[in-house]
Amino acid sequence: MTQTESLVKILLIHGPNLQLLGKRQPEIYGRQTLEDINSHLREFALGKGVELKTFQSNYEGAIVTEIGDNINWADGILINPGAYTHTSIAIQDALSAVNLPVIEIHLSNIYARDDFRHHSYVSPVAIGVISGFGAFSYDLALEAMVQKLKENPVE
Ligand code: DQA
Repeated sequence: MTQTESLVKILLIHGPNLQLLGKRQPEIYGRQTLEDINSHLREFALGKGVELKTFQSNYEGAIVTEIGDNINWADGILINPGAYTHTSIAIQDALSAVNLPVIEIHLSNIYARDDFRHHSYVSPVAIGVISGFGAFSYDLALEAMVQKLKENPVE
């Protein structure tokens, strides 16, 4: 097996409106852009022996397709489903279908915000949720996923 093949593989999915990070309500979501977050995470991941693939879409169906397409590639999925967190049975179903460990991420603390943000369709199929630490939520999620995959190493 080559070095590349032996890397743990993690898929990071960003949902709707997250392409606007940096400009979008910075008082809630911070000033880092999506590219700032992705490039930092990619580097952080490599240092941990993880290959990170990133994906962003504003379309529910595209997110569903991306999850399914990675059934044989990914060892784990990190996902910030954006507003689809609170609406999408299709994303919940896709995550259940691939049967991979999932960590749900939010920049903001969804429980300190509007009532409609308190319910998540993703949480029931996630091993955990990290919410409220801004861009650092992604670092925490990656760290947690690496620990999880080391506990149950992939073949
Ligand atoms: C979010 C929280 C969601 O409620 C919201 O719709 C988003 C971003 C977050 O990262 O805090 O788009 O997922």
